[in-house]
Amino acid sequence: MTIVPADDDAIARAAELLRRGQLVAFPTETVYGLGADAANGRAVAAVFAAKGRPRFNPLIAHVADLATAERLAVLDTTARTLAEAFWPGALTLVLAKRPGAPVSDLVTAGLDTIALRVPSHPVARALLARFGGAIAAPSANPSGGLSPTEAEHVEKGLGDKVALILDGGATTLGLESTIVGFLDGRPTLLRAGAIPRTEIERVLGERLATPAPSAGDTPSAPGQLESHYAPRARLRLGALSAEPGEMLLAFGPNAPKGVPGLNLSPTGDLGEAAANLFAYLHILDETGVATIAVTAIPEEGLGEAINDRLRRAAAPR
Ligand code: TXA
Ligand code: MG
Repeated sequence: MTIVPADDDAIARAAELLRRGQLVAFPTETVYGLGADAANGRAVAAVFAAKGRPRFNPLIAHVADLATAERLAVLDTTARTLAEAFWPGALTLVLAKRPGAPVSDLVTAGLDTIALRVPSHPVARALLARFGGAIAAPSANPSGGLSPTEAEHVEKGLGDKVALILDGGATTLGLESTIVGFLDGRPTLLRAGAIPRTEIERVLGERLATPAPSAGDTPSAPGQLESHYAPRARLRLGALSAEPGEMLLAFGPNAPKGVPGLNLSPTGDLGEAAANLFAYLHILDETGVATIAVTAIPEEGLGEAINDRLRRAAAPR
């Protein structure tokens, strides 16, 4: 079995596997990550191979704490304010990489910036503490597919490609981290995610800039319109109900009754909907249905990130 309960022994074993250049999947509070020693180019290359990533997108480097982050990157006052407010947690900061930082160029895709995050999940924290260095980890799913929020999702998608899957149960947030960068010095929302834009803006005391839709492959504005987070089934967004032969992914108390499908949050709680999003898409997809009809979700708070993932899941492929 690749899946093991994430107890102390398993975490120690995982840290040792990372040191030997192996891949280890582990839970974070957002989604499960496919981890490799960020300093080991061959290990990081194995991450891209395992996911079948068509291009070498830069990866997030996970670190134990702010002090470790400062050894890899330069945090100005604004960046430090955000780090102190949201770390450990679901915020990723894209920062100027320190020259000579012990991180493979494959992690940063050769850019002079690096994406850093200090996760809050106790298993992720214990693994980082044991391992000592930075762990490069994209979401632990085959490229383009749904992000894993349970160890079983990882097993199904990548089970034969990882040395170990640390099982820490279902992730609590269920959406990837929010990514903030500093394009032209201005704090910019590069990816909507598990921390709503408004929470970050409250701490900053200013609005987050939005990057211009990416011209070509600009890595600073990752995958804006690309098909991503996609189940096998087609998605029909903004549906009022399911047509015959469709399954409904609904939201809120006014969802149509007696229609086959699931409700992300019958009470209309966006946090609950975010936590259920990928797991419910996994479940509906496994029924083999051709189309999942998704009702409208308000574009406020976490709704921004939920709608971003749904639009990408529905994008032409
Ligand atoms: O919640 C998360 O963020 C999860 C967990 C495992 O931490 N990780 C995750 O990683 O979603 P991944 O690889 O699926 O997404 C990383 C994103 C990509 O969109 C990538 O383009 C962006 O981060 N990124 C990484 N480094 C960057 C950089 N130097 N500049 C701009 N974007 C960067
Ligand atoms: Mg991903």
